[in-house]
Amino acid sequence: MIRIAVTKGRIEKEFYKLMKKIGLDVATIENKKRELLIRTEDNIEMIFVKANDVLTFIEQGVADIGIVGKDTLEESDFVDYDELFDLKFGKCYFALASYKEYKEKVFKRRKKIATKYPNIAKKYFRSIGEDVEIIKLEGSVELAPIVGMTDGIVDIVETGDTLKANGLVVIDKICEISTRFIVNKVSMKYKADEIYKIIDKFEEVI
Ligand code: PRP
Repeated sequence: MIRIAVTKGRIEKEFYKLMKKIGLDVATIENKKRELLIRTEDNIEMIFVKANDVLTFIEQGVADIGIVGKDTLEESDFVDYDELFDLKFGKCYFALASYKEYKEKVFKRRKKIATKYPNIAKKYFRSIGEDVEIIKLEGSVELAPIVGMTDGIVDIVETGDTLKANGLVVIDKICEISTRFIVNKVSMKYKADEIYKIIDKFEEVI
């Protein structure tokens, strides 16, 4: 039995399409209601979790495969996995965003930046040689500059609608994001045959 931890929501839906393409049973999953663990006809066990928890289940050795966004991987300190495929869905990017005046403005103090992704933000500002104060928020990050708490944000942009609706613009694109297929290194060793069977199938359609 192979256990796949899938990020709940949009990623989950896209992943079913891919499973269907390679002939895996998705009927049981699509008909699920609030169950969090489903065993398919192909002897695959799917668990449905939040993005960060995909990594926790892999780290704890209870999931063999993880389906998770690159944003989560980049933000996490956990590195004990193999990233096998870019699944090419859930495409978006990280950006520094603010009011359009940001670029010309001369800041007489350390800039303040709000984000849900402090590690990515720190890495970005380090790479451009700026020392800023990072303020961690759990969501609705766009609010921070609006209410004057920060000078900008580092956040995910998909359609750009949220920035637009809140009067903000992209100041700098940081990096592209998409959904990744990751494998537990220990499973690769001890369940090699089963894992490779699945990997080969996915490889054909990706
Ligand atoms: C994400 C992200 C942006 C928004 C971007 O937020 O943090 O706010 O989506 O999407 P867009 O470019 O298509 O408008 P999410 O929906 O996860 O909610 P949150 O702000 O509560 O984290």
